Amino acid sequence: MVSRVIPVDPFDLVIFGATGDLARRKILPALFRRFCAGQIPEGSQIIGAARSDLNDAGFRSLVAEAVREFGGGRGCEDGTLEQFLERLSYETIDAKGTDGWKALKARLGASPVKAFYFSVGPSLFGELAERLRRFDLADDQSRVVVEKPFGHDLETARALNMTLAQHFDESQIYRIDHYLGKETVQNLMAVRFGNMLFEPLWNAQYVDHIQITVAETVDVGGRGGYYDRSGAMRDMVQNHLMQLLCLIAMEPPARFEPDSVRDEKLKVIRALDPVDYHHIVRGQYSADEEQPGYRAHVENPRSTTESFVALKCHISNWRWAGTPFYLRTGKKLHTRASEIAVVFKDAPHSIFGPDAGRHSNVLAIRLQPNEGITMQVTIKEPGPGGMRLIDVPLDMSFAEALGPDAEDAPDAYERLIMDVIRGNQTLFMRGDEVEAAWNWTDPIIEGWQRRGEVPKPYETGSDGPEDALMLMHRDGRKWRKIRR
Ligand code: BG6
Repeated sequence: MVSRVIPVDPFDLVIFGATGDLARRKILPALFRRFCAGQIPEGSQIIGAARSDLNDAGFRSLVAEAVREFGGGRGCEDGTLEQFLERLSYETIDAKGTDGWKALKARLGASPVKAFYFSVGPSLFGELAERLRRFDLADDQSRVVVEKPFGHDLETARALNMTLAQHFDESQIYRIDHYLGKETVQNLMAVRFGNMLFEPLWNAQYVDHIQITVAETVDVGGRGGYYDRSGAMRDMVQNHLMQLLCLIAMEPPARFEPDSVRDEKLKVIRALDPVDYHHIVRGQYSADEEQPGYRAHVENPRSTTESFVALKCHISNWRWAGTPFYLRTGKKLHTRASEIAVVFKDAPHSIFGPDAGRHSNVLAIRLQPNEGITMQVTIKEPGPGGMRLIDVPLDMSFAEALGPDAEDAPDAYERLIMDVIRGNQTLFMRGDEVEAAWNWTDPIIEGWQRRGEVPKPYETGSDGPEDALMLMHRDGRKWRKIRR
């Protein structure tokens, strides 16, 4: 199997905030990898735009360094970096003023495909959008790409949507949630809607509950300022976990097309019940002898921001009424592992008697690392001594099954940036989706504030606070182990 590279038309991509962290870590290395894969056609150009006083050569050396540090590598030959750098140029601009805009316009080529990536804080979205129109850089074919956080709550998200809508049509706006660009996240849709096997069982009648875990080992690192104003609820649950929940719970869209998919996701979010506050656990990692705790990573030594959330929620519709969804995510946990587990109900009656034991089937979709799917099935324990049942995994690691192709799959940013160029919005969030997600998370956050709730401490390297385990135990269930 050879990875297919779908040709795209030559394009101009302007990256605002091109000297910032996200551009250096993700966007520019992703573009380089696409260049190596032969997907950036002749005549395309990538223009960095930021406040820093740099010239083309200065920007190119910054990009070369970023690519070396954050990995271009794969499949790239000697000399490819130099060829890639030739496609790059830079313009110093004042996002809030008028300096640099005419010069930036003069750099744009004749290609009708123009994308403007706002790799800057949301406070600049409005100013940039307005200037793109005022200085005639963008037209009705152009695309703008915006990053999370898309707002801080419903009110700010609405304001951002309204500001962008003054200058661009919804069909031109690409709101990134990089989880949607992950290979296995898209596989969720392939598994559900490409197979007949699972869908008939995919409902409250057969599914006992669903667990979604996104566990990280990293701390908040150099992002303490941003993170302490956000916390895990805004940083992860409102967007990434919500998107996973939507893909696992939505009805089959009629077509794999932007509005078909996004309409179905929106219905899921709107069908979510408000979360009972007894069903939410907030946590914050504490210090131990060797490592500092959360509060040492942020400015406020008494911060009550959560670095962990676990919650139980319900979707009130015909398919899912009565089936709980358990979500958890946190930093500084035991292992970096993300998975979705669909836990099926027990067989209604055991013909083998009480001594055989009872086991439920679990379909686990591992998002990262070691992407793959495991189906836990019940079989007879081998050997004499009567009928005793045990669980065994039917395990499919994508790396093993697909060989080098699995490793060569583009990463989330590579895929999403090329989707922008192709004009495909399927894997991007629509404005109403983002607002609906805030509408669900806002009352949870407001409840914490009203009750003055303080997060429970948890040890670095653990599975989160004890209360998160209890959230499941109270229901007679348990979390799957967070292991690779
Ligand atoms: C980002 C969050 O959106 O996703 C980070 O802001 C988090 O806090 C990251 O670490 C996780 O992404 P991934 O791709 O490493 O799972």
